[in-house]
Amino acid sequence: MQNLELTEKEERMLVGEEGEAKQKAMEILVALGKIYHAERMVRVSSAQIAGVSYKTIGDAGLEYLKHMAALGGRVEIPSFLNPAGMDTCQWRQMGFPEEFAKKQLQILDAYSTMGITTSCTCTPYLNGVRPVEGEHIAWSESSAVSFANSVLGARTNREGGPSALCAALCGVTPLYGLHLEENRVADIIVNVEGTLENRTEYGLLGLLVGKEARGKLPAFRGINPDQDMLKYLGAAMAASGSVPLYFVAGVTPEWNLGESPEEITITKKEIEALKEKLNEAGHADLVTVGCPHASLDELEEIAQKLEKKPVEKPFWICLGRGVKKEAEQKGIARRIEENGGRLVADTCMVVAPLEEMGFGTTAVDSGKAATYLPTMCKQKLVFGKLEEILWK
Ligand code: F3S
Repeated sequence: MQNLELTEKEERMLVGEEGEAKQKAMEILVALGKIYHAERMVRVSSAQIAGVSYKTIGDAGLEYLKHMAALGGRVEIPSFLNPAGMDTCQWRQMGFPEEFAKKQLQILDAYSTMGITTSCTCTPYLNGVRPVEGEHIAWSESSAVSFANSVLGARTNREGGPSALCAALCGVTPLYGLHLEENRVADIIVNVEGTLENRTEYGLLGLLVGKEARGKLPAFRGINPDQDMLKYLGAAMAASGSVPLYFVAGVTPEWNLGESPEEITITKKEIEALKEKLNEAGHADLVTVGCPHASLDELEEIAQKLEKKPVEKPFWICLGRGVKKEAEQKGIARRIEENGGRLVADTCMVVAPLEEMGFGTTAVDSGKAATYLPTMCKQKLVFGKLEEILWK
C-alpha cells in the first residue's frame, strides 16, 4: 500500500494530542487517503458540510453530531453548511412541524458548538465565499462542488458530509481525485445543436448529459451560458450523473481534453421532449425556485415578473441568507414579497419536509429539483421555465 506522509501537526492530531474529535477526524481522513492512494494531505481554505437537514440525517445523524461536539472538536478553517430542513427565522409562520423544528435546531446547535457558521446554502459562492482558480477546498453539496470546480476553477472532490466535517476539524483533506491536475481532464465532448435560452433549458441539458456521461467528465461546445445557467447545468448533471467537473469552451477557466474523447450531440428537440415529459400535472400546491439557491439577478427577474402579475398560491424562492440580505437592502425583497413571493433562506424545496406540510404537487424550473422531488418529497411535478410555472 502507498505511503501516506503526514506532517508533524497531522501526526499530532492522529495520536490524539489535539483532542479526541480531531483524532477521530484525522483517522477518517487517513483511511480515505489510503483508499484513494493519496501521498499526502493538502490544506484546504474552507469546508462546506452536507448532512444538515433533519429530514436527511434523522436521529442517528443528530446523535453523531452531538457526540462530535461533546468531544470538544473545533474547526480549523472557515466552515459552513448545506441547506437545513427549514428557514430558521420563518419556520413557524410557514407551518413547519414543531417536532421537526426542535430536532433541526439541535442539529444546528451541534454544528455551531464546533465553530461552524450556520449559514445554510448550496451557493456559498454567492454568499460571501468565492474560492479562486487553483484554491483547494473541501465542499460536499454536489451542485456547489460542480460550480466551484468548473466555473471557479477551484479544486474539490465531492466530499460526503462526514469527510467534509473531518476536513473542517483538521484543515486538510487527502490529496487525490480532482485536487490533482492530471484528473481534471474531459473524456466526453458534448456538441449542443440549437440555442438554449434560459436556465431551465440548461438544467434539462444537464439531466441528459449526466445520464450519458456515466462517470466521465464532459466538455461542451456550442453553448454560451451565463452564471445562473451554469449553476442549473452543473446541478442537473450532478443529480443525474454525479458529474463533479465540466468544461465549456470559451467560458470556464479550464478546457482540458483527454487523448481520444468520445463525442455526443444533444439537440434542442431532445431538450424540449424531456421538458414535456417532466411536466406531469396541471396545477401546483406550491411554486418553488432557487435550486441551486437563487442569485440577485434571478431575484430581480422574479420581482419584475411579479410586479406585472402577482402570485396567488404559496411561492418560495430558496436562497442563502447573504443574498437575502442584499435583496432586502436593494428593495428587491420588498417588491417580491408585496406581490406574493416569499424569500426562504437556510433550506430548499428538496430537504424541507414538503410532504408533511401538506403539499402534493410542486412547480419547479430546475432539472435537479425535478429529479429529487418525486422521490425525496413524494411530489408530483409541474415543470417549466419561470414564467410557465409562476401562475400554475
Ligand atoms: Fe441546493 Fe437544494 Fe437544489 S441543496 S441544489 S436547492 S436540491
